[in-house]
Formats: sequence, C-alpha cells, structure tokens
Amino acid sequence: MELRAAIDTVRWLVFDQRRLIEERFGDSDEFAIDLMLPIYAGKQLRRKLEIRKRRVVFVRGADSFAQIYRSSSDEINTGSAYAFLKPYFGDESVFVMEGQTHVPAKQAVYRVIQENMEINGDDLLFFHYSIKEVIGTGTYPILPEVQYISSAFVIRTLFGAQGTKIADSTIRAAIAAAGGASGTFLLLPNILRWTRRFGTGLAMRRQRLALRNFVLDQINRISVAHNWRSDDNSNGQNPRTQIIDNLMTLLIAGFETTAATICWLLFELARSQELQSELRAEIMDRFRPDPLNYLADDTSLLGLCTQETLRLHPSIPFVIREAQKDIVLRQESVRAGDYIVLSIEELHKRAFGDDGEVFRPDRFREKAKYPKIATFGGGAKICPGRAIAVQQVRTMCALLLSSFLFELSSHTDHRIQRNRVSSTPRGGMVLSVQRIM
Ligand code: HEM
Repeated sequence: MELRAAIDTVRWLVFDQRRLIEERFGDSDEFAIDLMLPIYAGKQLRRKLEIRKRRVVFVRGADSFAQIYRSSSDEINTGSAYAFLKPYFGDESVFVMEGQTHVPAKQAVYRVIQENMEINGDDLLFFHYSIKEVIGTGTYPILPEVQYISSAFVIRTLFGAQGTKIADSTIRAAIAAAGGASGTFLLLPNILRWTRRFGTGLAMRRQRLALRNFVLDQINRISVAHNWRSDDNSNGQNPRTQIIDNLMTLLIAGFETTAATICWLLFELARSQELQSELRAEIMDRFRPDPLNYLADDTSLLGLCTQETLRLHPSIPFVIREAQKDIVLRQESVRAGDYIVLSIEELHKRAFGDDGEVFRPDRFREKAKYPKIATFGGGAKICPGRAIAVQQVRTMCALLLSSFLFELSSHTDHRIQRNRVSSTPRGGMVLSVQRIM
C-alpha cells in the first residue's frame, strides 16, 4: 500500500497528473487514493516537515460538487486550500481566511470591482493602444503578451492606474511573482509551504515587496477614510495591511487565469477560421457602436464563445478542500482529514454530453439543457473576480479580433501545460498573428 501511494504521489506531482485522474475515474464519478504528502507539524518557525499518507477523494459529479459547496464550515474547511496564498500574497487578506467569516468582506471587494467595471470610450482606446503596442505581426508564443495586457486590465480596474512607469513595472513584477508563486491549486496545500521553504525564496520576496509598494503607493493616492490609511492597530486590527493584502491577492489571482482563457479562445478561433470570421463580423457590427451593451450580452456569439472557452479550458482545473467531519458522497465516503479534489475539468467534459470534449459555443443557446459550469468554483469560496474575468475576456477578444487575424502554425502545441497555479497553453501557445487593421 505504501508503495502504491508513493507511485501515485510521484505521478501526481511530477508526471501525468491528468492521466492519473482520467484513468482512476474510469466510468465512475468518484474515486479515492492515498498520496504521501508533506505536512507541517508544530507551530510557526518551529514547524517540522513530515511526510504522511493522506487519503484524497476525487470528485467529478455535479451533485457532489453542489453538496460540497453547500457544506457548512464545520464539515468542510473552506480556508484550508488557501493556506497556500498566505505566504505569497498577504496574510491578512480576507480571501485566505477560514470558514464563512470572510464572506461579507469579500462581497464588499466584489462590489468595488463591479462598480469600477464600466467600460467606456477611454478604456477602449487604452486597450486598443496597448494591444497594438504589445502584440505584433509574426508567429510567436502569445501568452506572455496576453498576460501583460490582462494584468493592465486588472490594475486599471482596481486602481485606475495606467501607462505610468510604476504600473508598468508592477505588471511585470506581478507576472513574475505569479510565475514564481505557482504551486498552488494543483498541489495540495501543505506541499505549498514546502515548495515555499525550499524553493523560490529571495526573488519571490523581492517581487512581493515591489507589488506591495505599488499597492501602497496607489492607496496613498486614493482618497480613503483615515483609518484605512493609518497603521493604527490599537484594536488588534490593521486596516491598511488588510487592504493591501486584499489588493495583492486580487492582482495575483486575476490575470494568469484570464490570460490563459483568452489564449485558449484565440486558439479555438485559429483552429476554426469560419467561426473566427463570423465572430469578427459580429464584432465589427456591434462592438464600436455600442460597447457597453455588446459586452454585456450573454447571448452574442462573443458571449457564447467566452462561455464555451471557460467550460472546455478551465484555467483552474480543480479546487481542493479538506473534510472536517465524515461525510457521504454519491459513491465514496469521505473521512475527517481527507482532502477532496473537485475536478472541474472532468465535470465539464462529462456533464456536457457526447461532444463534451469539442469546442461548440452554440451549445449554450440551449442553456437549460446543461448544468451550470463550475469554472469559477462555488459556495463561500466562489471566485470574486468572475464578472471582471468574463468582461475582460470579451473585451480583449473583441479588440484583438478587430485588429488581428489568428492562425495556427506548425509550432502550435495544443496540449495543456499544468503550471503550478493554473493550466495554460503549452509553450505559451504559438500562434501566427497578422495585423489586419
Ligand atoms: C477566467 C478567469 C478566472 C478563473 C477561471 C477563476 C477561477 C477561480 C476559482 C475556481 C476560484 C475558487 C477556488 C476554490 O474554490 O478553491 C477562484 C477564487 C478566487 N479568484 Fe478567481 N478566477 C478567474 C479570474 C479572477 C479575477 C479576474 C480575479 C480578481 C480580479 C480573481 C480573484 C480570485 C480570488 C481573490 C479568489 C479567492 C476567493 C476566496 O478564497 O474567497 N479571479 N477563482
């Protein structure tokens, strides 16, 4: 048994995570395996690393997803999967808190995002300008460029900052930081602490500091309530630190995910020139004259293509929870202390019919036939950036298609690369890009 667990652990961590999952699911909706995982025992700096066998239950059925998302925090520890965020982004971010306590604060952040999300003429100019500056004619991996513009989008939405030197260098630092910080969703929480200790160390800390200074600088410019600015922690709380930590979390969580989605959408459009032309015609017809209504329309071809990309290529392929109590799912019993892996990618492939592995945006015209997609998670930990993410994918896609033609090249590798944070197009997704306007 120990040997089996060791082999599965190596497959999970080093080799074919995706094959391991597919194989073990077989025809069922749930399966359990043992993995040998590093666990920290003891407190803070005195913590000792131990390798222990841990039972991990994999789930891909819609009912079990719903059951887990609805569970109370004494059944499922919603905070545990976020232990990994703390060391990197901000210990006092509401997003890394345990249980339901963070929900009101999270909703407040969500409101701020929504209120700032309106897209106006200047934004379009800015993004048009950025896109034309950043993306050129040629055949090359487009992921880094798309990441750059995606982070500009998030930074602009959160701070209104654009085009300044500091915004520019922070975007790059954030990209580098997220690259270095990867290791999160795909590894189980305790391993993260392990990679952190032995891995990315100094460079990571420097980037984190750069990001923190940027956020601080922005906050000092924004007119906010006095107690937000002060570092007065006489009541045991430190509001400014909380705000900085929250913003850092949003910045890091908010661009690699969307950038990967945009690249996959471009890949699908490069693969189907007919669909690309149809979508470009719709964009030319509706986007410039009325961007707000067009971008908000879920039933447009752009809306459907975005939804289908989120379904088929979820940039976070699974999320992890830790059971606090024994619970019974459809096919497996989960014991207290087990990890539960909600396999979003597998749910989406299986629950969407025989052609679940095919890119077919049209399917969402018959929305009622299908389960809800789980790309943004669910329950208390649902992604607070989901609205901005959808808008971002639609906006960037509209701007990109207005100006460029995308084609596959012989270098395009359509396999998925599992990074440590998310899954992105392998090799940065090499596409042939031609400026048409
Ligand atoms: C296509 C793009 C995106 C995808 C697929 C995505 C997916 C997800 C998923 C699945 C979770 C839940 C993880 C879990 O349940 O353990 C999550 C959480 C989160 N997302 Fe996103 N996300 C995207 C974009 C964004 C954006 C644009 C932002 C910010 C502006 C953002 C900020 C966050 C934060 C802060 C959390 C943690 C929430 C919490 O723990 O309470 N995400 N995201």
